[in-house]
Amino acid sequence: MSNLDQIVSAAVADFGQAAEPAHLEEAKARYLGKTGALTELLKGLGKLPPDEKKVAGAAINAAKDKIEAALTSRRDALREAALQAQLAAEALDVTLPGRSRDVGSLHPVTRTLERIQHLFHSMGFEVADGPEIETDWHNFTALNQPENHPARSMHDTFYLQDADGKVMSDILLRTHTSPIQSRYMQAHVARHKHLADMPEIRIIAPGRVYRVDSDATHSPMFHQVEGLWVGETVSFSDLKGVVIDFLRRFFESDDLKVRFRPSFFPFTEPSAEIDVAFMSGPNEGRWLEIAGCGMVHPNVLRHGGIDADRYQGFAFGFGPDRLTMLRYGINDLRLFFDGDLRFLSQFQ
Ligand code: FA5
Ligand code: MG
Repeated sequence: MSNLDQIVSAAVADFGQAAEPAHLEEAKARYLGKTGALTELLKGLGKLPPDEKKVAGAAINAAKDKIEAALTSRRDALREAALQAQLAAEALDVTLPGRSRDVGSLHPVTRTLERIQHLFHSMGFEVADGPEIETDWHNFTALNQPENHPARSMHDTFYLQDADGKVMSDILLRTHTSPIQSRYMQAHVARHKHLADMPEIRIIAPGRVYRVDSDATHSPMFHQVEGLWVGETVSFSDLKGVVIDFLRRFFESDDLKVRFRPSFFPFTEPSAEIDVAFMSGPNEGRWLEIAGCGMVHPNVLRHGGIDADRYQGFAFGFGPDRLTMLRYGINDLRLFFDGDLRFLSQFQ
């Protein structure tokens, strides 16, 4: 084997031994560097006679090409190996089960409120609104409960303090949605005062209300949906028809157990409370009061600016939290306000 062949095979072997790029570059210097084996041979060319010089020069160059080719292929191999090592280290295990994102859902009472609005909308009722901080006048007086009226004591509520900590007796957290009745009547009358015949009022008014109450069927903050229909011929049988039609559609049941129980409200006459029996759950068969209702008292119409000799109407106040209990067979309404996901996620 010629000297050149030995150098080439030594270089190829050295390059093969280099496990890292830095070692490879060191090996390269030993053959192709300034004092490398091949470079030394090239330097010796000058001493040769011209005809030998040509032949030896070509042979050295051929050897140099081989060494450079071996160097390039080793560099590529090392780069590829480094890439594979990195890919293996950073590998994603695509067979792991995915992490799904939690999806929110509507609160069961919100679903009930939307359902109530949808059903009453289909019966021609519009949705009205009123403030949660209400005046004493709208919450009580306009509803035929003047100061010192005994029925006021059934609606113990939360009062507000002024900046000096003094209780403000003229405003409070509303105890029911009924104050929207007088607010709406007044606005309706003002809107239509240029007309000889006032258009009918047919509204519902959902919202939060407050009372000092707390047990399995009473919460200090709960919801009500007020209903009001005022016209010239609106009667108690209309009230029963609307309520029963609504309840059958709400519960999707034609043989719902509903009863109208005679009752008293200062703002309706005659008055009734409406009970529905649980169809499922631990309370199955038991009655639960879901609403108060009655024919609007003439004094309430008058406070609303309406001619009580010409117009009459009915009103009701549903408890949507209770409707939700009945719909899903839930026996404690406090579950609605605990924010426990084990409970809430069952309504997705
Ligand atoms: C009223 O609040 C009357 N404003 C209803 C009314 C409106 C009568 C229009 C006539 C005309 P009552 O206090 O009964 O009535 O409450 C009405 C409904 O709200 C009850 O039937 C019940 O379903 C619900 N409710 C009352 N208190 C609570 C409470 N603390 N927690 C949850 N729901 C309640
Ligand atoms: Mg009641």
